[in-house]
Amino acid sequence: MVSAVMPTYLRQPVAFVRGQGVWLYDALGHAYLDALSGIAVCGLGHAHPKITAALAEQAATLIHTSNLYQIPLQDELAARLCQISGMQQVFFCNSGAEANEAALKLARLHGHRRGITAPEVLVMEQSFHGRTMATLAATGNPKVQRGFAPLMPGFVRVPFGDTQAINQALEQHPQIVAILVEPIQGESGVRMPDQGVNDWLHQLRTLCDTHNLLLMLDEIQTGNGRTGRYFAYQHSAMLPDVVTTAKGLGNGFPIGAVLVQGKAVDLFSPGMHGSTFGGTPLACRVALATIEQICNGAMANAEEQGAYIQTSLRQRLRTFDVEITGLGLMIGVILPKDAPTLVDAARKAGLLFALSSGNRIRLLPPLIITKEEADLLIDRLTAVVSAFLNTPEAQ
Ligand SMILES: Cc1ncc(COP(=O)(O)O)c(C=O)c1O
Repeated sequence: MVSAVMPTYLRQPVAFVRGQGVWLYDALGHAYLDALSGIAVCGLGHAHPKITAALAEQAATLIHTSNLYQIPLQDELAARLCQISGMQQVFFCNSGAEANEAALKLARLHGHRRGITAPEVLVMEQSFHGRTMATLAATGNPKVQRGFAPLMPGFVRVPFGDTQAINQALEQHPQIVAILVEPIQGESGVRMPDQGVNDWLHQLRTLCDTHNLLLMLDEIQTGNGRTGRYFAYQHSAMLPDVVTTAKGLGNGFPIGAVLVQGKAVDLFSPGMHGSTFGGTPLACRVALATIEQICNGAMANAEEQGAYIQTSLRQRLRTFDVEITGLGLMIGVILPKDAPTLVDAARKAGLLFALSSGNRIRLLPPLIITKEEADLLIDRLTAVVSAFLNTPEAQ
């Protein structure tokens, strides 16, 4: 059957009919270990009883009223996010791209406040920030930009992790007012900065303080417990000015947020930004329930199981030219060559993950994965990777 859905996605030949914890099931009852979590979304796994209950209860009480009225659940969620993060104010939206759009508007406002009429934002090569026109221009991947020229102006790009390049860019572009960066690059294949996340973030913080720039961290993928802290910057003793989040915040229910502190507070005033669906009672209730579970065990488990999976994979794949990278349950397995058949082979063996840049396996399993399930993941991954690397085509 020809689908009437626009062909924007290259879909795998499988549909899931239900999920439970880390498992997804197809119509024939085959079980798949979901080591992708809907691309870092279902951190608490599928059909989590607390999330189901929050969703059902709130849906039966009040779904939506609009931001024309007070929404106490929004205030409650904003307060909780600020308490967790050290930030001061929150704007709610519905997706990662929308959160980054809001952040980019904040950067422009910060620039105009400084008297800069054509502000620019510094972004990284190989970054991913979304598919809307502004976030597409911010994204450092020519493939996703192809066909959409003219791209929105106002971005300057440097290599990820390169502070010297940032210094040069700042000299050449005095209109730069903000840096937008992922602490660990996700979509391009779990890329860590060479100097480590901690040093990288501290270097960025110092540069932003020196030059009066907003430090804007895109934690859409790294946030919500994924790396073993609520946000990845919490591995370091520093605060960004702006943090964007979405994905895991609603465990599959759409919600995004922009958190600000310091000089990014009160840049927006009434009428400057908005979203019909942003921060509905339903979305906020689900996010509050999700945060509670992340903070009560899931995040700590992500740190523990993440370290275990990384160590085990290093050991099990030691005879191959393979690099294991990442933090918490955001794990990359970098293969010595492109592996176009690997995702299919793994799915047939009951394991779901994604591949980036041709040779970078991305593992983003639910934060609630047990040690036994982690062992299964390790066994299945080791088997498919070994089989692939032992075939003549991979030599
Ligand atoms: C770091 C990062 N930023 C932004 C986005 C865009 O989020 P969304 O697809 O919800 O618009 C993604 C999605 O993969 C992401 O990983």
